[in-house]
Amino acid sequence: MDNINILCKIQKRVWKLHSTNLVLIGFMGSGKSSVAKALYQHTRSLILDSDLMIENNENMTIPEIFSQKGEQYFRDLERAFCLFVSQNIRHCIISTGGGMPMFCDVKQMGKVFFLDLSFEDILLRLSKEERLKRPLFKNQKAALELYQKRYQVYKDSAHFCINANRSIPEITQEILDCLPMK
Ligand code: S3P
Repeated sequence: MDNINILCKIQKRVWKLHSTNLVLIGFMGSGKSSVAKALYQHTRSLILDSDLMIENNENMTIPEIFSQKGEQYFRDLERAFCLFVSQNIRHCIISTGGGMPMFCDVKQMGKVFFLDLSFEDILLRLSKEERLKRPLFKNQKAALELYQKRYQVYKDSAHFCINANRSIPEITQEILDCLPMK
């Protein structure tokens, strides 16, 4: 009986997710991609990762886009992604680039979850190699200033703030618990 109840609960959550998108925001290295993959395992809703889509469409890496076309060009692509998702996509998990809430109204894409992690913990998680993939994380001091400048915007842009200083299954479970029941 217990198992049947748990299954019903999950199915109701999955049904509800299918009327919107689940949008993950947060600073670089806060775990958006990993949480998106774990959410996929629970909901089977497809993941749209804005960075990956932009890289594929442009056939360039993000560092290449920044250095050859400039940050403004990249932000225009993010805005186009955000608009496209809000007008055309439902039932998906949207993993955003860390700067997107500064330049776009992310709430128009769906239910927004801010993965809240301290800058110190982000430093622990991001390897040197991972930092090099991110043009705005090359200089640690500048990255800290960016983090401080953005923190309140992340909070204001989210429907839910999630403590991301926990394991991926715990974070995932909290997000699923936030989804409204049918
Ligand atoms: C950026 C974050 C990156 C990527 C780009 C700019 C930012 O995404 O979109 O390098 O402005 O914070 P991640 O948050 O996935 O690292």
